Amino acid sequence: MTGSRIVSMGHYQPSKVLTNDDLAQIVETNDEWIQSRVGIKERRIADTETVADMAGWAAEKALANSGLTAADIDLVVVATTSSIDRCPNMATRVARKLGITAPGAYDINTACSGFSYALATVDHAIRAGASKNAIVIGVEKLSDITDWTDRSTAVIFGDGAGAAVVSASDEPMIGPVLWGSDPEKGDAIVIEGWRPYIQQAGQTVFRWATFALPALAAEACERAGIKPSELVAFVPHQANLRIIEPLARKLGAPDLIVARDVVESGNTSAASIPMALSKLVERREIPSGAPVLLFGFGGGLTYAGQVIRCP
Ligand SMILES: CC(C)(COP(=O)(O)OP(=O)(O)OC[C@H]1O[C@@H](n2cnc3c(N)ncnc32)[C@H](O)[C@@H]1OP(=O)(O)O)[C@@H](O)C(=O)NCCC(=O)NCCS
Repeated sequence: MTGSRIVSMGHYQPSKVLTNDDLAQIVETNDEWIQSRVGIKERRIADTETVADMAGWAAEKALANSGLTAADIDLVVVATTSSIDRCPNMATRVARKLGITAPGAYDINTACSGFSYALATVDHAIRAGASKNAIVIGVEKLSDITDWTDRSTAVIFGDGAGAAVVSASDEPMIGPVLWGSDPEKGDAIVIEGWRPYIQQAGQTVFRWATFALPALAAEACERAGIKPSELVAFVPHQANLRIIEPLARKLGAPDLIVARDVVESGNTSAASIPMALSKLVERREIPSGAPVLLFGFGGGLTYAGQVIRCP
């Protein structure tokens, strides 16, 4: 096998909806400010669900959609930055829930670029012959680490999980990753200390994202041997519509399908790309086999992106 492909997707979101008007009861804010600055209308907040529950339910759906069984899976990789429980790691907790008996199992933390990093490591493992069928999950319970008295962050984040089943393939359908980071700007988003909260320098992140990402997104396409204008769909990290929409326009692809799940889900960090992609696939909005650019960016400041073929 010379490559890998995403066979199927699945996602899970808590049923509890927190609207902008609900938030205005908690902190001094309003629907107009939130929608105009970040484009979010509402987000889902976990109630009794744990990180492992959400990851497990998303993975279960992806597995059910794949036609494979737990016995076929030999690798589980989880991207998360909000999991408080450290050991056993999230990947083995998910494997246990799904009855996957002896997989390679590890977690990755590169914040909001976590899913693209995790997908790349799974692709590399398959190409190296270390895995045939893997599950890769992005999951966050950011409500656990949100300061609900801080209006500058409380309005942004949400909870959820998305998962992909990735299998060996003769034709490489996950393109080479472009990954990197800007450690000098690491202080712009921090989750530090004992019982930490997310803190961010919003304008620093905004300026970095709007300045650096267009060239990086184009380079990820170049590595896959396609022009940005040939993309059919774009699924970036769901941080902010004011970042996503100009970035999508700069790709220059006519009729580009752009994920805008941030509007209903808020920013769910490592979960945002697989959740958004899973919904587009479920609604059959992207033709199977079409080139889709995934691009994650965030805490670190890290970034990673790759062109995949839609399952
Ligand atoms: C966070 C972000 C929406 C803030 O928007 P901004 O235009 O930079 O807003 P500022 O922080 O400059 O604040 C502007 C004003 O709005 C106020 N404000 C902040 N949060 C508010 C809220 N939720 N509701 C109402 N007013 C708010 C501020 O107090 C400030 O008031 P002042 O002018 O009286 O001092 C924006 O910087 C952003 O999207 N950054 C990128 C963040 C991101 O995407 N992070 C994730 C990457 S993974």
